[in-house]
Amino acid sequence: VTPVRSRPRAPQLPDRVRRLRPYVPGRPAQQVRRELGLDAVIKMASNENPYGPSPRAIAAIQAAAASVGSYPDSACHDLVQALASHLGVPPEQILLGNGSDEIIHYLGVAFLEPGDEVLSGHPSFLRYEAAATLNDATHVAVPLADFRFDLRAMAERLSARTRVVFIANPNNPTGTVVTRLELERFLEEVPERVIVVLDEAYFEYAVDEEYPDGIEYVRGGENVVVLRTFSKIHGLAGLRVGYGIARPEIVSAVHQVREPFNVNSLAQEAAQASLLDSDYVAAMRRANREGHDYLAAAFDDLGLRFVPSHANFILVDVARDARAVFEQLLRRGVIVRTDPAFGLPTFLRVTIGTPDQNRRFLRELADILRS
Ligand SMILES: Cc1ncc(COP(=O)(O)O)c(C=O)c1O
Repeated sequence: VTPVRSRPRAPQLPDRVRRLRPYVPGRPAQQVRRELGLDAVIKMASNENPYGPSPRAIAAIQAAAASVGSYPDSACHDLVQALASHLGVPPEQILLGNGSDEIIHYLGVAFLEPGDEVLSGHPSFLRYEAAATLNDATHVAVPLADFRFDLRAMAERLSARTRVVFIANPNNPTGTVVTRLELERFLEEVPERVIVVLDEAYFEYAVDEEYPDGIEYVRGGENVVVLRTFSKIHGLAGLRVGYGIARPEIVSAVHQVREPFNVNSLAQEAAQASLLDSDYVAAMRRANREGHDYLAAAFDDLGLRFVPSHANFILVDVARDARAVFEQLLRRGVIVRTDPAFGLPTFLRVTIGTPDQNRRFLRELADILRS
C-alpha cells in the first residue's frame, strides 16, 4: 500500500528574502502588443537607447554568434584591456558584470554584513535597497532636496554602521546630478571603511560643467566604485554588460563572490566594438539632447512642470493621478513609467525617444490631459 502523503509545506523563506520588494520592470512592448491587441507600441519606460546599438556592435555579435558553443572568457581579458585603455586606468581596477545591476548585487554580497547600513537617496534606483535587504543590512534613504541627492543631509546620516553609500549620478528617476564640489565635500566626511558607489549609468549623457567624472576619485585612491554600463547610450541593454572601476582590493573582493562566467561572449564582443565607435556614442548624445530640449519645450507649452534632465529620460508632473495617465497612454500603445516606490504620485518618467516617438507620446499625452 502506498502511504498517503500530505502535500509538502511551502518552504520557509528567510526574513531577508521575504522582505525583498520584487523589481517591477517596464513592460516589454511585445507584451503590451499581445495583451491589448495593439500594432504600434512604443516603449519609453526603461531608459533604453531608442536607436539600439551601433552597427559595429551588431556586426561583432553576428561574427561571434558561431562561437557560443564555448564558455565565455571568465576574465573578459580583451574587454578589460579595451576599457583600461579607453578610460586610462590599469586593468586590475576594472570589473565586469551581467549589467551594472549585477555589480550592485555583488558589492552587497561582498561587503555587507547583518546590521550594516546602506545609505542612499530617495527616490533613487531601486536596486540599492534590494542589495541591502538581501544581506540583512538596513537601507537608510535620505529624501532628495529639489529632486537632487542631498549630500549634506546624507553626511549627517553617516553612522558607525554605514558600510556602503550609493549615489546615482545622474540620478534615476530624476535625471539630476550632484556637482564636483558637493561630492568632494561629502567624500571628506566619509570614514575610511565606507565604500562610496558612484552609479554613473547615464554618465555619457550628462551636460553640466560641474558634473564630476567619478574615475578621478578612484585615481585619487578613495574607496570609490564607479559603475557604468553598455545598456544605456551604447544601446546594448539586452546583452547585459556593465562595468565598475575601483581600487584593486575592491575588484578582487567582487571576483571572490562573482559567478565565473557572468558576462556572456556576445556581450564581451559587442561591448568592445561599441567602445571603439565613439562617433556613434557622440551622435546618440546629440540626439538625446535634441530630444530633451524638444520635450522640455513641449512640456512648457502644455504648462507641465518637469525636472530638467542630465540623462535620457525626463520626470514630468502631470498634476493628476499619474497612474491613470500611465494606463491611458498604455492603452494608446505608449509605455512610460510611474512607480509607487518613487513616492511621486503625479509624475511620469518618460525615456527620451526618437523624434517620431517623442511626437507620438506628446500627441497622446496632450489628448489625454485635455479629456
Ligand atoms: C541608475 C541606474 N543604475 C544601474 C542601472 C542598471 O543598468 P544595467 O544593469 O542594465 O547596466 C540602471 C538601469 O536602469 C540605472 O538606472
